[in-house]
Amino acid sequence: MPAPSAPPLPVDLSGIRLDPQRGLARQLYQALRERILDGRLQRRTRLPASRDLANLLGVSRNTVIRAFDQLYAEGYIEGRIGAGTYVAELSGATRPAPAGATQVPTIAATQSAALQLLQTHHLNPPLSGAPRAFRVGVPAFDLFPFETWARLSARFWRKPSPARLGYGDPAGDGQLRELIAAYLRNSRGLHCDPAQILVTCGSQQAISLCAQLLIEPGDRVAVENPGYRAAGHAFAVAGAQLAGIAVDGEGLDTTALERAGRCRLAYVTPSHQYPTGVTLSLARRLELLDWAERHDSWIVEDDYDGEYRYSGTPLAPLAALDRQGRVLYVGTFCKIAFPALRLGYLVLPAALAEPFARRRALDMRHSEIGSQAVMAEFIAAGHFQRHIRRMRSAARSRRDVLLAGWPESVPGCAPLPAVEAGLHLCVRVDSLIRERELISAAAGVGVEISALSSYWLPGSSTPEDQRAGLVLGFAAVPEAQIAEALLALRRAWGDCLATACL
Ligand SMILES: Cc1ncc(COP(=O)(O)O)c(C=O)c1O
Repeated sequence: MPAPSAPPLPVDLSGIRLDPQRGLARQLYQALRERILDGRLQRRTRLPASRDLANLLGVSRNTVIRAFDQLYAEGYIEGRIGAGTYVAELSGATRPAPAGATQVPTIAATQSAALQLLQTHHLNPPLSGAPRAFRVGVPAFDLFPFETWARLSARFWRKPSPARLGYGDPAGDGQLRELIAAYLRNSRGLHCDPAQILVTCGSQQAISLCAQLLIEPGDRVAVENPGYRAAGHAFAVAGAQLAGIAVDGEGLDTTALERAGRCRLAYVTPSHQYPTGVTLSLARRLELLDWAERHDSWIVEDDYDGEYRYSGTPLAPLAALDRQGRVLYVGTFCKIAFPALRLGYLVLPAALAEPFARRRALDMRHSEIGSQAVMAEFIAAGHFQRHIRRMRSAARSRRDVLLAGWPESVPGCAPLPAVEAGLHLCVRVDSLIRERELISAAAGVGVEISALSSYWLPGSSTPEDQRAGLVLGFAAVPEAQIAEALLALRRAWGDCLATACL
């Protein structure tokens, strides 16, 4: 190696700490490599002689020589014994040292913003374990025909066709996609080709794929406010700026959406707004489609609990009204079977089907074949339709028990709304303090109630007290447990009233 003309730069290796319990040479190699790559050790810096470095770090000279050998072999350092050891010229590979750099690897600014955001996202739902009244977001597990599922599953795994055991189609099992297309045609009036369907691990993955593929960092995304926070998080982690759009008695306020300025995408829950329970009116559906066309924007339609409608005619999904290929429809089996199944789907505008399948293949290739194949059999043999009817009727009768047994005149609590769809209802209360007190008194007697205030975007302009309310899931447990929970609530809230804490 030609001797460098410039004098060697001073070198500070004081931050290196080696753990005597682990391979010392390997640790030293990694510490030096990290410093070279992040620019703390700049090119042509002369490293201390192996003996001096060994003394400085309190390790044997052999350890240093082994670490240097590895760095030589990989081209990070250059030099000859006796002529000094220098950091090599690594064309473009090094970055300037960040101010105050420490041994902790630095994380790019956009990633660290995403990591911060993820701290506010619950890894597990806050309310987990066996369902209790009035858990939100879960259907009646007790009614799932596990015996039928086990039989179909055993039949599939007893002699699986070798053709289905290799790497499958990232868009999902062909038979399942055909059956989903037929189901949507009959139940939602949504006509699509099976080629437009992508099987996902529940709606959450479908939403997350939309975020990954349709959003550039800095794009604005309109989300309902209050709304489904996990969807907002998926878009924000992809770099979106969230624009919270108000929801009124007709669903997403399209006038407020117009006022929000250019948004690349709007995420909505039209059949049963989450969490307020409002259905998006037909007029608003048409305005929303018109908005998407004028602004060249996408709409993600999350039909998470569309199977549960108790009265009134269901309105056509946005995807069925869409003539411009702007709507991505998200469906799930998790609210009709059970969430841990992790099976859902996307219906995509034809031009997006292939890019989405490619992107999905990168993450996890495809959903596990067993649950896809068994779900296909479950649908084909008519069990699915039967189960939907059973679940709808059970949810309706559980809703009725809640509506009939709800304590009258809870102070500060609005009357319960009419509930025509879904698995939960939402009732407003007059202040955040009241919300907190009602919920904690309920928790004290083992009754789960979710706070409406937790569904708002941070920094919402709606006054705090107007964000307060109770969100109650009514489908998770049988009628008798609902009645017991209502008795417990009466006692808890009654006691509270007596001690004037409400
Ligand atoms: C509005 C909404 N969308 C999507 C989901 C996620 O559903 P999945 O379990 O299919 O991911 C939920 C779950 O509660 C939800 O409330």
